[in-house]
Amino acid sequence: MTQDRPGLPVVTVDAPVTGLRNSEQRAGFRLPAAVRAVNLDGMAMLDMAGAPGRSPVFSGLLDHAPGWGDIEWLRRETPLPILLKGILHPDDARRALACGIDGLVVSNHGGRTLDTLPATLDALPAIATAVQGRVPLLLDGGIRRGTDIVKALALGASAVLIGRPQLHALAIAGASGVAHLLTILRTELEVAMVLAGCSRPDAIDKNLVWRP
Ligand SMILES: Cc1cc2nc3c(=O)[nH]c(=O)nc-3n(C[C@H](O)[C@H](O)[C@H](O)COP(=O)(O)O)c2cc1C
Repeated sequence: MTQDRPGLPVVTVDAPVTGLRNSEQRAGFRLPAAVRAVNLDGMAMLDMAGAPGRSPVFSGLLDHAPGWGDIEWLRRETPLPILLKGILHPDDARRALACGIDGLVVSNHGGRTLDTLPATLDALPAIATAVQGRVPLLLDGGIRRGTDIVKALALGASAVLIGRPQLHALAIAGASGVAHLLTILRTELEVAMVLAGCSRPDAIDKNLVWRP
């Protein structure tokens, strides 16, 4: 973050602990030793194995997990716009707006953290109804094609975010891979809009999506 280009604070609210990822466990995935959470240097790491008979989550972690009071504190501390990421319920969206939050990200962490959560596209309409266009409403999770963007905009999102596609693109071809990915998504979005008869993004409305 630099002074002339301040970052946009996004607070992730849906993952105080890492989910149990069975495929990662089976693969024996470990971060390389050189990869560290530098902002957490000097802080005690939670031992998820825990002592026998004690839960590391319920014996300490939850006492320190952030809550709505922390979001209110952050709001008072900074004039920067704050976005909350990980909203899946309209009540939480309303609570966030009451805290003075400037934008929301409907997200289930890409479905990587807790199984059986709803798809973000399914959670979006009720949240859009709660927000009523008062703040930007972003969405992520499973956006893979231009038609996914059309669906998200139709159901009430202001814009979408992407996670894994850009990681794949970066791994395969670096920055030009990510640029190519964005070109593909943009082309697909434009073609889908034309085929759906929309000349502008704000012409995309919920009538474009057939929901039984
Ligand atoms: C390797 C990886 C690491 C992630 N780390 C974080 C994180 O530290 N904080 C966070 O809010 N979301 C994190 N996410 C979730 C993404 O921000 C995003 O919500 C998700 O990837 C969107 O879904 P998609 O990958 O299907 O596009 C991570 C996702 C991946 C794949």
